[in-house]
Amino acid sequence: MADTTAQAPAHPAAGTTAPAPAPTPKQWIFNAFTMNTPGHLAAGLWRHPRNRSAHHNDIEYWTDLAKILEAGKFHGLFIADVLGQYDVYKGPGNLEPGLAGAAQFPVSDPFMPISAMAAVTKHLTLGVTASTTYEAPYLLARRFATLDHLTKGRIAWNVVTSYLLSAAENLGLKDEIAHDERYRMADEYMDVTYKLWESTWRDDAVARDVETKQYTVPGRVRRINHEGKYYRSAGPLQVAPSIQRTPYLFQAGTSTAGKAFATKHAECLFLPGMTVESVRKSVQEIRALAAQQGRDPATIKMIMGVLIIVAETDALAQAKYEEYLTYADLEGSMTLFGGWTGSDLSQYGDDDDFQFAGPGAIRSMVSSWSATIPGTDGVKWSKKRVAQELAIGGAHVRAIGSPHTVADILQHWVDETGVDGFNCSYAVNPGDFEDIINHLFPVLRARGVFWHDYAADTARENYLQDNAGPRLRPDHPGAKYKWPAE
Ligand SMILES: Cc1cc2nc3c(=O)[nH]c(=O)nc-3n(C[C@H](O)[C@H](O)[C@H](O)COP(=O)(O)O)c2cc1C
Repeated sequence: MADTTAQAPAHPAAGTTAPAPAPTPKQWIFNAFTMNTPGHLAAGLWRHPRNRSAHHNDIEYWTDLAKILEAGKFHGLFIADVLGQYDVYKGPGNLEPGLAGAAQFPVSDPFMPISAMAAVTKHLTLGVTASTTYEAPYLLARRFATLDHLTKGRIAWNVVTSYLLSAAENLGLKDEIAHDERYRMADEYMDVTYKLWESTWRDDAVARDVETKQYTVPGRVRRINHEGKYYRSAGPLQVAPSIQRTPYLFQAGTSTAGKAFATKHAECLFLPGMTVESVRKSVQEIRALAAQQGRDPATIKMIMGVLIIVAETDALAQAKYEEYLTYADLEGSMTLFGGWTGSDLSQYGDDDDFQFAGPGAIRSMVSSWSATIPGTDGVKWSKKRVAQELAIGGAHVRAIGSPHTVADILQHWVDETGVDGFNCSYAVNPGDFEDIINHLFPVLRARGVFWHDYAADTARENYLQDNAGPRLRPDHPGAKYKWPAE
């Protein structure tokens, strides 16, 4: 397909002054979306002969991936996490259907591979998911501060409140804490962590001065004495101040409470949604909500999920996708769907058409899919079809084709919705991320929408690219706690 976006500058008409140089196109963000499991968003694909995801408990799986992503200039590697198993499908409480396909089970701790990846990279952001619902803020603040040191300012936190009953039961509760209450707790939680990271050590507190014999200068460390509705923490944080202090913050709230939380705290948002209209609406809404919260919308990046399968030609890419599908485990897809939505697909007949039957969540997903897949008018959306659509990449938009086809698809999403970049899922690793690096990135560079190299050494600077340093921007609610040197 022709490159429709790289247009030569128009000739100035005779007698007019030369036009201003074309503005630099927006530089897109690319994240690699992973999880410490054999079956992140592609149940059953662990069996594919090229996929190493079954080796996720080997440290080399992570260090190799980090090196590949950094050589290719991905902005970040991002590790999703859940604290319980998906047991809604054929349930409730049924562990069995997801086991064979490794549908996000087993899952190992996402924090553990970070230091090893930090040791073999210098620029790649390392993002990790952690929940505010089940752990004291002090403990998490200490862990992130330590990792900010060990990564030299490249740690990011995907703030989640956790959505699984199984997680609540694993963590000592009989029931989940109500959704909006979790966000109220999370709001105070963030405040405690900002105080610990930003306000307990004056910027010049650590002297390490052999002459004065002072490691830390007395008078430059203080307590926070936080006593709120949900949390108490005296402080100070034990960890000496790190490069970013507050980790770079990701979030993905979609509910009213979730968006209010995200637009207050997040610096990069993952947007769900499969149609141009729904993503555009989210982008506009988030920018407006952020402004209402006193934030500069330019400091909040928005990236959308996408499954990119790219090869030399459209036909080869499509063949690759179809070959992947032969390994998909549809019982696993339905297990993931049950966990994400709370809907048990086993309650519906094999012949039900979900364009017309089933709960609203499935119907709206089906209408979103059918809007993005050509030639599916009048095709029946059975349970099997729904599971197949989810099988690789979950509910992410798919961009399958030659480098130019994929670039055109992504350009369309950027132009029509205003997103800043993409969170890329995978089916096979190694494989899909390398294909993006080798086939797609050169075309995006030629079009001027993807960088040639990292802008800086820290996470915040690489995502924001505003030359404003590694610390929280002044419009962020955590920035008011900074304790500058006098
Ligand atoms: C790309 C993406 C990644 C997410 N990763 C996680 C995750 O790793 N762990 C988790 O508990 N929730 C994750 N979520 C769920 C969100 O944190 C959030 O619960 C969800 O988007 C629904 O928003 P709401 O709680 O405001 O309704 C993710 C959501 C998206 C869109």
